[in-house]
Amino acid sequence: MIEIKNLTKVYPRGKKKALDGVNIAIPNGIFGLIGRNGAGKTTLMRIVATVMDQTDGVIFIDGVDLKKCKSDFRKSLGYLPQSTKLMPRLNIVEFLDYICVMRGIKDKAKRRELIASIIETVGLVGEEKKQLGKYSGGMLRRAGIAQAMIGDPKTLIIDEPTTGLDPEERIYFLNLLSRIAQDRTIIFSTHIISDIELLCKNICILELGQVKYLGDKENFINVLEGRMFEHEGTSDDEAKLRQSAVVTSVSYVEGVAHIKYVADAPVLETSRPTEPSLEDAYINALGGVKR
Ligand SMILES: Nc1ncnc2c1ncn2[C@@H]1O[C@H](COP(=O)(O)OP(=O)(O)OP(=O)(O)O)[C@@H](O)[C@H]1O
Ligand SMILES: [Mg+2]
Repeated sequence: MIEIKNLTKVYPRGKKKALDGVNIAIPNGIFGLIGRNGAGKTTLMRIVATVMDQTDGVIFIDGVDLKKCKSDFRKSLGYLPQSTKLMPRLNIVEFLDYICVMRGIKDKAKRRELIASIIETVGLVGEEKKQLGKYSGGMLRRAGIAQAMIGDPKTLIIDEPTTGLDPEERIYFLNLLSRIAQDRTIIFSTHIISDIELLCKNICILELGQVKYLGDKENFINVLEGRMFEHEGTSDDEAKLRQSAVVTSVSYVEGVAHIKYVADAPVLETSRPTEPSLEDAYINALGGVKR
């Protein structure tokens, strides 16, 4: 169990707080961190991964202050940063062997066995001879996960792994995460709401360094039950709805506005009740879709 208490971060040259009194308890399983660019996701993950210190607040790992159990926690942690430059001239076997050595696995036969099994898990069999510099984005992400899994970590921190992947590779990667999630805690950040839909039970939405929502994904959607409406109409209708409701999506098809919005009762006469999606709940939490 990871408990984050009142976590605050001000970067040396930062004008505002990148994290501002964040409180989160992270249970086992896959925990999804969502938020706009600059919300503070990477900052939070780097502090939990012990790559950077907080300005204020405490993180407890199974009840112990992370500052007091840093080296033990690191041994049970795998971290895949948002932007990683893997060693481009090495192939995956050489690269993972290097990571194994760094992680203190001395026995060569053991390393070979472990590397073969991890390569199998992440689906890179047949790609062993290719230099990492020649890998595609998806393959690099798999190599990154392979690297993070060495030492069989109980906690994995994975920062926006699906950004830039094609749909097929994204689904492969999400499946991979759900397969390796057993008996682990995975903290996973994304911009893509459907990633969360597929993977996580518990979520946290960060906005400007603060927690906007924390808890069960289903509850997050249920809050909108009975308050979600759809409307087909004109751009004047859109303007009216934007004034008196929270608009979560707008699209124009052949000149007709298709609008979804949150309100206690229908704002316009011809609006119909509809089911909320996770995307609606997310956009609602952030105050509605931008113009
Ligand atoms: N090294 C730094 N120095 C100063 N400010 C920083 C630094 N790194 C991040 N910030 C600021 O801290 C805030 C949070 O940034 P962070 O990278 O944690 O957000 P994020 O949610 O990961 O965004 P993204 O989705 O774009 O990756 C932003 O306002 C950012 O500009
Ligand atoms: Mg980030």
